[in-house]
Amino acid sequence: MDQLIQIQKTSGLKGSINIPGDKSISHRSIMLAGLSETPVTVTNFLHAADCWSTINCMRALGVTVDQDKDGVLTVKGNGFYGLSEPNDILDAGNSGTTTRLLTGLLGAQPFFTVLTGDASIRKRPMARVITPLTQMGIKITGRGQSRYAPLALSQAEQVTGITYNMPVASAQVKSAILLAALYANSSTTITEPIPSRDHTERMFETFGIPVKKEGTTITLEPVQKVTAPSRIDVPGDISSAAFWLVAASIIPNSELELINVGINPTRTGILDVLQQMGADITITNKRWSGKEPVADIVVRSAKLKGVTIEAEIIPRLVDEIPVLAVAALFAQGQTVITGAEELRVKETDRLKAVAQELGKMGAKITENPDGLVINGPQKLSFAVCESHHDHRMAMSVAIAGLAAAGVEIQNFDCVKISYPDFFAVIDTLRQG
Ligand code: S3P
Repeated sequence: MDQLIQIQKTSGLKGSINIPGDKSISHRSIMLAGLSETPVTVTNFLHAADCWSTINCMRALGVTVDQDKDGVLTVKGNGFYGLSEPNDILDAGNSGTTTRLLTGLLGAQPFFTVLTGDASIRKRPMARVITPLTQMGIKITGRGQSRYAPLALSQAEQVTGITYNMPVASAQVKSAILLAALYANSSTTITEPIPSRDHTERMFETFGIPVKKEGTTITLEPVQKVTAPSRIDVPGDISSAAFWLVAASIIPNSELELINVGINPTRTGILDVLQQMGADITITNKRWSGKEPVADIVVRSAKLKGVTIEAEIIPRLVDEIPVLAVAALFAQGQTVITGAEELRVKETDRLKAVAQELGKMGAKITENPDGLVINGPQKLSFAVCESHHDHRMAMSVAIAGLAAAGVEIQNFDCVKISYPDFFAVIDTLRQG
């Protein structure tokens, strides 16, 4: 049976929200800590289904992950060469990050692994990681002429460094190559078409692995061990904060304080675009969490105007396009999004899903092959919308419903992928 939730419209959102841990950084903290000889404590880890997929995979590889009553993790690895062959197929669930990053890491190990995931993962393109990893001498086969999971990774013999020009801007692909490159016999150089999130590079440095950066080119020398920090504090996820940034902006009589938001410049496209749209956003208390910058953010209702979003900024806000489409429906004037074809291969085809689901509320959205055109403001009505089992779709339509005339969401439970408390938080903020 479908799971259904009803969201009533609200006349304002007020309050303070502790932003849950960053999904990208949570995955990487477990993978890197799992290669260490010394234990690593991880605080503010994102306890959501995607990151637990990574924990379960790392446990199956011989890494111990313990959790205390406050959700603080202790990861105990067996050293840089200490991963062991899993007894069974590894299940990445819905997580593209788990699938692609582990393909790089495990492709370089001297044992056999099979990696799969849910129906969405088995439709997502994997050739983008298989192509460079194969050039490194890693043997990978997969379904559909090695384009899709399940993926079978043969016991690695010699991994060689490569020089690779990435055809798509993807942090997952870059990270898969970098993880394999740690075990190579020569250096690896990667050039990105447009810079993508650099959490892997920052975390490598935290683990004593030097990364050389020149423009959009990254060079990595192989290592023999990692030197782990005793503790990693995961910053809050700006991609989760994005729902509140948009909600408070478009719902009159709103003021939200977002505590502990990661403001890594490779992720802050949402702040730049909302500010360009006229949003009332104040960034305070800037500080560091290891090598990642964080801040608190206050956002108040504002009159938004339409904006143009082009390819160059897409990697810095790639997961925020669905909720930005909601903002555009409440903004005065035209919003044009181009260069966003990557959204077609996310958890679902997000360009199509945005046009279709917000369309059920009466929104008129032009769907182009690589983006969307939205003329605002538009009047939306109550509708029953489908999440497409995509967490960011469920949360985006929820924000549209909160701001307009309410919404009923089918299969809302997928918010557990990145923000299990999302609907509970709405209840604490609503002003009627
Ligand atoms: C992620 C990278 C992005 C993003 C995803 C998380 C990561 O994917 O959409 O949610 O943790 O590296 P791509 O690398 O496919 O762009």
